[in-house]
Amino acid sequence: MGSSTDRERKQALERIRWLQRELNRHARLYYLEDRPEISDAEYDRLFRELQELETRYPEAVVPDSPTQRVGPPPAEGFRPVRHRTPMLSLENAFSEEEFRAFDERVRRLLDLGPGHRLEYTGEPKLDGAGVELLYEDGVLAVGSTRGDGRVGEDVTSNVKQIWSLPLVLTADPPPRGTVSIRGEVVLPIPAFEKLNRERLEKGLEPFANPRNAAAGSLRQLHDIDRRRLALLRFYAYQITEGLPSRVRTQMQVLETLRSWGLLTPPDAGLCGDVDAALAYYRRMEARREGYDVEMDGTVFKVNRLDYQERAGNLPRSPRWAIAFKFPPSQETTVVEAIEVSVGRTGALTPVARLRPVRVGGVTITHASLHNEDEVERLDVRVGDTVVVQRAGDVIPQIVTVVKSRRPAGTKKFRMPDRCPVCRARTVRLEGEAVTRCPNLDCPAQIKNNLLHVASRRALDIDGLGEKLVDQLVERGLVRRISDLFTLRREQLLELDRMGEKSADNLLRSIERARRPTLARMLIALGIRHVGEGVAELLARHFGSLEALAAASREEIEAVPGVGPVIAESVVRFFQEPRNREELERLGKLGVRPREERKPRKSGPLAGRTFVLTGTLPHLSREEARERILAAGGRVASSVSRKTDFVVAGENPGSKLDRARELGIPVIDEAELLRRLGEA
Ligand code: IVH
Repeated sequence: MGSSTDRERKQALERIRWLQRELNRHARLYYLEDRPEISDAEYDRLFRELQELETRYPEAVVPDSPTQRVGPPPAEGFRPVRHRTPMLSLENAFSEEEFRAFDERVRRLLDLGPGHRLEYTGEPKLDGAGVELLYEDGVLAVGSTRGDGRVGEDVTSNVKQIWSLPLVLTADPPPRGTVSIRGEVVLPIPAFEKLNRERLEKGLEPFANPRNAAAGSLRQLHDIDRRRLALLRFYAYQITEGLPSRVRTQMQVLETLRSWGLLTPPDAGLCGDVDAALAYYRRMEARREGYDVEMDGTVFKVNRLDYQERAGNLPRSPRWAIAFKFPPSQETTVVEAIEVSVGRTGALTPVARLRPVRVGGVTITHASLHNEDEVERLDVRVGDTVVVQRAGDVIPQIVTVVKSRRPAGTKKFRMPDRCPVCRARTVRLEGEAVTRCPNLDCPAQIKNNLLHVASRRALDIDGLGEKLVDQLVERGLVRRISDLFTLRREQLLELDRMGEKSADNLLRSIERARRPTLARMLIALGIRHVGEGVAELLARHFGSLEALAAASREEIEAVPGVGPVIAESVVRFFQEPRNREELERLGKLGVRPREERKPRKSGPLAGRTFVLTGTLPHLSREEARERILAAGGRVASSVSRKTDFVVAGENPGSKLDRARELGIPVIDEAELLRRLGEA
């Protein structure tokens, strides 16, 4: 060994340590403190440098290196994890009386006389997903969801992406053996609102509330959006195993958790007795809108742990703790109009347009009235003053109509007997609550259907947004999915606000959408009851569109996870002549699922993700893809932080800009061939 390599090694190790420290610091600034000091591109550059150095010097990889947050995605479903002690739920109190009754009960249980004050810790009740973390010798080993309380799901690799939780407990020396910590994973409200705005722009269903968004982010299985995970926050409130012996109270539990580098519920405090606890509850209720995380109440826990033990547990909840819920936020406002929208499946949904009002920190402008029966039940009319309520959900409910304030001359609302968009006669089938527009050529249905087809989880057609879809449908250029694949450049150029560059970009995105995975194709077809999960199951089981189309109800129902309603819906879909015709047309236009090939685990490009953009001098896009796959690499359709290289040819699209923005290396065909070992 020459001394120059020794020196090199020493320098590299120093650089690695520096990068690990710096990247952790910057990530913290970015994700937790919202005050980044360096650009995303700079961060990515440093990150990749660290990745490369760590590959060369694997001995320098430490468990809390930022690269270790990038675990492999869980392969198939989630592994079940049995909790060593059940994850309990909490009993609820909704009034002062119920809360005082709880205090009496505990004091009786503990044999404390009336003069004896019982101390509680007050904590906000955070509205998210309960999670358990296991640390082994201070290193995060397993993260699991609550599940049914006994068995949860293994979400370790997703949990590791959450920046607000330490991969290694910060105690020195770290606690030995197993430490089990429980807490709540939440998505802060600003991140939630941003996420929903992005989803709406992409034509995806927004999340109803931050809790669903948090749970959904945590349980991502495919196409994992790391940013969404990174922005989650973990608030720890319990140590169920490995409690240091000096810890005697819940307040000390929280202090210990903080000393280990975890966040604990904001503004938790000690309450000397039941009256102090009530004062704490009122204080938190008054301030709840000032927090950036959603709270739906306060949790009171007997502070002394020996008392907790003495009080014991019921099967589903501890006797020593209670959740004192906040009343749902309510406001009154006025119904300005009742509008009826037509969805992708033709369902008519009445929506009340409201005079804007702030409820529970969020501005409300609309409330869904769901269907005819619901409108009937409430008897809401235009001009009515109504009480609206948010119970954690952003889509608020109308609780009641203030009949005493109803202006004269209002009319009862009737579901329109003609579709508000295409004027077709609407139908309401017996036994169904929904009223539908039966016209499959209804522009509203076509538009929503196209937006669905273009969405990320379906064919992922970049640039096909709402405005464009409106124009395409209104000008009669697109009536069904297959029409998208016949669009010509000249046709696009005639549209408003469509330049040459956008037209070319759009055509390229459409081109790329011709060979989706089978699962995405199934989603795109919009078969009722076939969402992402089911599409994945069906694709894996049947392997091809033909096989699925030929399958019987029984065969489909035999797929684990697929029930009779889904099976029925799939069979009907393929029986429908109109759908068969459309599938045939799609096939003729070259739109069909690609043959799946599992990425190889070895090869010169193993573990690397590529994105192709523009026209390459020699290879067609399909050839380039095939070769990358054959060499163990992956090909993604859009540039993200997960992308390792962007291969750019002539006339590259917006992906090149995105790559530059993120500082992702851009290579040409020659470089790709070199890496493939084919130069
Ligand atoms: S203590 C045995 N503390 O609320 C103690 N739970 O409705 C059980 N939650 O399952 C949990 N904030 O997921 C506790 N400060 C807090 C909490 C909290 C939110 C959740 C938790 C629990 C659910 C019960």
